[in-house]
Amino acid sequence: MNEGQKIEVRLTAIRYAARDINLFEFSRIGGGSLPAAAPGAHIDLHLPGNLVRQYSLVEAGDDLAAYTVGIKRDAHSRGGSSFVFDRLKVGDVPAISPPRKHFRPGEAAPASILVAGGIGITPIHAMMRRLSEIGRPWKLHYACRSRADLPDFGMLSELSAEQFHLHVDDESPGTFLDLDAVVAAAPPGAHLYCCGPAPMLSAFEKATAALPADRVHVEHFTAREAGQSTREVVVRLSRSNREFAVPAGKTILGVLRAAGLNVAFSCEEGVCGACETAVLSGIPEHHDSILTAAERARNDTMMICCGGARSDLLVLDL
Ligand code: FES
Repeated sequence: MNEGQKIEVRLTAIRYAARDINLFEFSRIGGGSLPAAAPGAHIDLHLPGNLVRQYSLVEAGDDLAAYTVGIKRDAHSRGGSSFVFDRLKVGDVPAISPPRKHFRPGEAAPASILVAGGIGITPIHAMMRRLSEIGRPWKLHYACRSRADLPDFGMLSELSAEQFHLHVDDESPGTFLDLDAVVAAAPPGAHLYCCGPAPMLSAFEKATAALPADRVHVEHFTAREAGQSTREVVVRLSRSNREFAVPAGKTILGVLRAAGLNVAFSCEEGVCGACETAVLSGIPEHHDSILTAAERARNDTMMICCGGARSDLLVLDL
């Protein structure tokens, strides 16, 4: 982690939102506003034992007194949500990162179709608020297992049937949110967004495969592919002119850290964006779950925790 990227905050409230979902509110110690957060942004939460987890903000804004994240207790927790639910208390002072925004609404789109499953509603909720504020049309399709899992984030209970399509799995056994129908019914030119469990993301990507890539947006919170260099590459750091050989099977980030460089990183899985680095020359090989197809094709940025190179030399803005 890059120490300069941390903000010390106090956990000022924990509120119930649904079964196994709580809202955690973090405020700056001593008061004052926090850095601006774009709709769909997430923060890193730094926990003991070098655990770092990414959680999406429920609300965005330029002048926030607090960040509120929705967190679900994960039955298969690797330590993050179990610590947050069982050990974190109001008054604790964990560190967080400034918000990052890899998932944000295309505000000029003629319509936005928002698809969420389970706790995936969190970034989508911030986008709904923003789209409503600026008067852009949108519709939410939300799936949860039962009504006890439907989070009370304030805005959901106020939506009309025209704007909110709810699919409750245990009320329609054996059926799932019909994403092919959702995509087929999308207005011409609409942008489509999805955040939810991995099977939903896969189904969404399949249902939207024929659409232009710049109209399809997916938020991943777990890695969708293994990430390391598949061939040896030389990495040159433009600011120091130092060069490093990155062998196949290693990551650029790992090699730079082993050499003692202080490089920003967090998840090391290609899902958080902390290690995003501008590429000045060469062709990166992307393995992250953040960049869109169009962003990948520009070859001007990469996540160095998991990307490699298709060229022999990569020049990075480091
Ligand atoms: Fe999270 Fe690289 S450290 S994307």
